Amino acid sequence: MGWGMKNRLSGIFNPKSGKTVMLAVDHGYFQGPTTGLKKPRETITQLLPYSDCLFVTRGILRNCVSPAISTPIFLRVSGGPSVLGELSNEDLTTSMKEALRLNASGVGMSIFVGEKNEDRTISSLGRLVNEAEEYGMPVLAITAVGKEMARDARYLGLACRIAAEIGAHMVKTYYCEEDFEKVVEGCPVPIVIAGGKKIPEKDALQMAFSAISKGAAGVDMGRNIFQSEHPAAMIQAIRAVVHENYSVDEAFELFNKLKGQKVVDRVVE
Ligand code: R5P
Repeated sequence: MGWGMKNRLSGIFNPKSGKTVMLAVDHGYFQGPTTGLKKPRETITQLLPYSDCLFVTRGILRNCVSPAISTPIFLRVSGGPSVLGELSNEDLTTSMKEALRLNASGVGMSIFVGEKNEDRTISSLGRLVNEAEEYGMPVLAITAVGKEMARDARYLGLACRIAAEIGAHMVKTYYCEEDFEKVVEGCPVPIVIAGGKKIPEKDALQMAFSAISKGAAGVDMGRNIFQSEHPAAMIQAIRAVVHENYSVDEAFELFNKLKGQKVVDRVVE
C-alpha cells in the first residue's frame, strides 16, 4: 500500500480506537429525498462534527457541503436505477478525475452478489480498483444493501470475501446476529456495517455494539442516525460504542442525556 493510500485511510480511522464512524447520506442517489435527508444541508451540517467521514454523492457534496470542512469524504461513484427499477443495474457514474478534483479520501460502489447484474457489478469493482490504485485512492465495496434477501453469515461472508478478493480496500455490509464474526474472519479487509432500516435507538446501539465486539472496524450508518428524532445525540451515542467501548446501556443513557441538550453543546470525542 503506497503512502497516499495509507494517508487517506488513516484519516478515516480514529488513531486511538482504530475504528471509524462514517455518516452515510448517499441514499438519495436511488431513493430521492428520503426521510431525514429532505434537506441534506441541514442534516449534514448538524452531524458533521461527530462524523469521522462523510459517505456522499458528488451532487450533494458540491451543493450542500461547505468546501471548508476538514472531514474526509468517501464518494459514492455508482448508480443508475431508481428505487422503481432493477436495483442491481448499477454502473459507475463518477470518474476518478472527479473524485480527485473533489479531494475525496475514497470511493465507494455497490456490488450485487446473487442478483441479476452480479457479474457486471463485480467486474466494475475490479476496474474501479485498478484505476483507484494508480492514484492511491481507497475503494469501499458495498454489498447486500437495498434488497430483501437472506442476509445471513453465509451470504454476507460470500459477498464480502468476493469484494476483498477483487481488491476492495474496505467493505460495507449488514450485520447478522448469528456468526457475524465468521463474516469478519473470512474477509481480509476492514468491514464497516450499514445500519439498515430505522429501528429503535437502543436496538441500533446494540447492533453497533455487537458488530464491533465481533470484529467490525466501524459503521457507515445512515437512517438509524438521521431518521432518529435526535440525530446528533444518536451519532454521539454510536461514537461512544465504536470509539470508547461503551456498553449498550451506557450508550443509551448518553443518548437520553444528550437528546435534551442543544445541538451545539454536545460533543463526544
Ligand atoms: C445505500 O443506500 C447506501 O449505501 C447507504 O449508505 C447504506 O445503506 C448505509 O445506510 P443505512 O445505515 O441507512 O443502511
